[in-house]
Amino acid sequence: MSTDLAIGVHDLSLRTTSLVLPHAELARYNGSDVAKYHKGLGQRAMSVPTEDEDIVTMAAAAALPLIERHGPDDVTTVVLATESSVDQSKAAGVYVHSLLGLASNTRVVEVKQACYGATAGLQFAAGLVHRDPRQRVLVIASDVSQYDLDSPGEATQGAAAAAMLVTADPALLELTGPSGLFTADVMDFWRPNYRATPLVNGKESVAAYLDAVEGAWRDYRSQGGLPLTDFRGFCYHQPYTRMAFKAHRQLLETAGAHLDEEALHRDVAPTTSYNETVGNSYTASVYLALTALLENRDDLDGRTVGLFSYGSGSVAEFLAARVRPGYRAHLRQEAHRRAVEDRQVIDYATYRSLRERSLPTDGGWHELPHRTQGPFRLTAVRDHQRIYEAA
Ligand code: HMG
Repeated sequence: MSTDLAIGVHDLSLRTTSLVLPHAELARYNGSDVAKYHKGLGQRAMSVPTEDEDIVTMAAAAALPLIERHGPDDVTTVVLATESSVDQSKAAGVYVHSLLGLASNTRVVEVKQACYGATAGLQFAAGLVHRDPRQRVLVIASDVSQYDLDSPGEATQGAAAAAMLVTADPALLELTGPSGLFTADVMDFWRPNYRATPLVNGKESVAAYLDAVEGAWRDYRSQGGLPLTDFRGFCYHQPYTRMAFKAHRQLLETAGAHLDEEALHRDVAPTTSYNETVGNSYTASVYLALTALLENRDDLDGRTVGLFSYGSGSVAEFLAARVRPGYRAHLRQEAHRRAVEDRQVIDYATYRSLRERSLPTDGGWHELPHRTQGPFRLTAVRDHQRIYEAA
């Protein structure tokens, strides 16, 4: 950022769904060796939404603590990034704006580019704050990832939201330096408008992701970005947590660094604790990795961390952020621990019946059962409208 003004993430809050399906239960159903999930993919469980949860309820639940701590004043813009949108026209953030009781003189917009969207939202927010440092921008990443039942992708499902308040003089993280960018027109993962689940070329998607790591890093360095040795941790988009280790290996190779397994583990392992139990949360995933890093390490004051954001299709960005001294006093690890631990464990049959249902499309009045443990719920679908309320 070409300014002396520090701009970045002032506060960060995560939420997920009320239900969780362990991979051991998925393996019991489909006969897979559970080690494939636990070790091969690095996944232990996936969040599953109740009937009355979706990207809006998760997004509002994640953002509520930010509004409670900082107040609604000066929140001029809400950017909600998602690829599991609930409407083709209306921005999901408008429902969130209403649930949070934000002022009418607020700009609300939805951003989409697969899992990359929230990083574009972060850059948009930083630009707005640069123009007027009094502004506070709420950037929310919220997604439910669902693949076809009985497909290889099913083990990489998940759901979560990450809400960030972007301000001047931030308490947690200052965005710094150039961004390394990489875009390539590839069909590794996509979801046509008529489909509820994506189409995916699994192996090709891994290769496309790794190409993007290389491309984004090269672009970052070509603009005078910091050398590898200046970074104290790397947060990657984690469709499954093993992917972060593959990605870091690719980065080290591209940078011509010695492939030291111990360093690989040290740089990446502190970032995986949320993603391995929540699953792929698409836009939110890299910000869950960031939150885990900030919470799991206590030696990051003034240090630089790297973020690699990837969205299939594909667009990627590598950016550097400086952790603000005293950041630990502003973290929310207890609330995050509860959000993850309080989920109710379900069996495969319950998961399957939730997956096989869909919202009625007949335009009638359909009340939904109250199942969420969260502060907001989708209470009904009426006249083709989604009705949200405080739970
Ligand atoms: P698969 O065919 O089920 O699994 O597909 P596999 O046979 O490739 O095995 C996976 C790993 O487990 C392999 O390790 C195996 O060796 C290992 P690797 O070769 O990767 O190092 N394994 C075992 N390890 C220990 N004990 C065992 C065992 N068995 C096997 N017994 C795939 C895996 C990821 C392709 C599939 O789950 C899938 O299609 N997922 C969805 C796509 C995806 O996640 N792609 C990732 C990159 S693209 C991306 O990140 C973007 C995305 O988030 C979308 C967006 O941007 O919107 C997806």
